[in-house]
Amino acid sequence: MLIVGNWKMFRGPEPAALAGLDAPDLDVVVCPPFTRLRDCVDAGLTTFAQNVHWEDEGAFTGEISAPLLLELGVAGSLVGHSERRQYFGETDETVSRRTGAALDAGLRVIACVGETREQRERGETEDVLRRQLSVLEPHPELVLAYEPVWAIGTGLTATPELAQEAHAFIKSQLAAPVLYGGSVKPDNAAGLLARPDVDGALVGGASLDVESFTAICQAAARIPS
Ligand code: PGA
Repeated sequence: MLIVGNWKMFRGPEPAALAGLDAPDLDVVVCPPFTRLRDCVDAGLTTFAQNVHWEDEGAFTGEISAPLLLELGVAGSLVGHSERRQYFGETDETVSRRTGAALDAGLRVIACVGETREQRERGETEDVLRRQLSVLEPHPELVLAYEPVWAIGTGLTATPELAQEAHAFIKSQLAAPVLYGGSVKPDNAAGLLARPDVDGALVGGASLDVESFTAICQAAARIPS
C-alpha cells in the first residue's frame, strides 16, 4: 500500500511531523513544492517532485531534470497531474517523454490519468483512460494514479465501487499498481483502500494537515495486504 501526499503549491506541514508514518506494508511519500524538497529528504521522508523534464539539462526555464532531483536525494516524481494537463499545456506526448526519461534516470514515477466530468457524462471514461495510458509502458518503478478530475479538490469522491471499476479497467490496459486520488479524506480512505484494485491513495488537500494525513496513513496500515 502506498500513500502519497501532494502538497501542490502550498508550503505544507513541517516534514519532521511526518517522520515514522511508514509501517509494514505501507510506504508513505510526500511531494512538496521544490523549495521544500531538501527539508523533506533531510527529515528522512521518501520525497518525490511534482514534475520532471525529459532532458538531463538545457535551456528550459522553470523546469527541473531527473539528475538534478537525484542529486538532492529525491526518489521520484509525479507526472501528468490533471492540474498540469489543465493549466500548463501538459499533453499525453509530454507525459510520455517525462515518464520515460525519469524512469530511465532511476526515478520512480507516479503517472496520473483521469477523465473530466464532461467526459464521464458523455460515457467516454474508458476511451480517455485508454488514450492516456497508451503512451506509457510497464516498468517496475511505474505507479499509476487514477484521479477523476471532477473529484479533485471538489469534495466529491468516487465511490469505492466506481474507483474499483476504473482501476480494474486501467490494469487491463497497463500492468501497474494504481492509486486513487480525488478528495481522499480520513473518513473515506478505508472504504476506497479496501477495494482489491486500489493499491493506495494520492492525497491533496488532506495531506496538508498532519492529523488528517496521519489518519489516512493509519487507515491504510490497517488494510490487510
Ligand atoms: P485533493 O487532490 O485530495 O485535494 O482532491 C488530489 C490530487 O490532486 O492529487
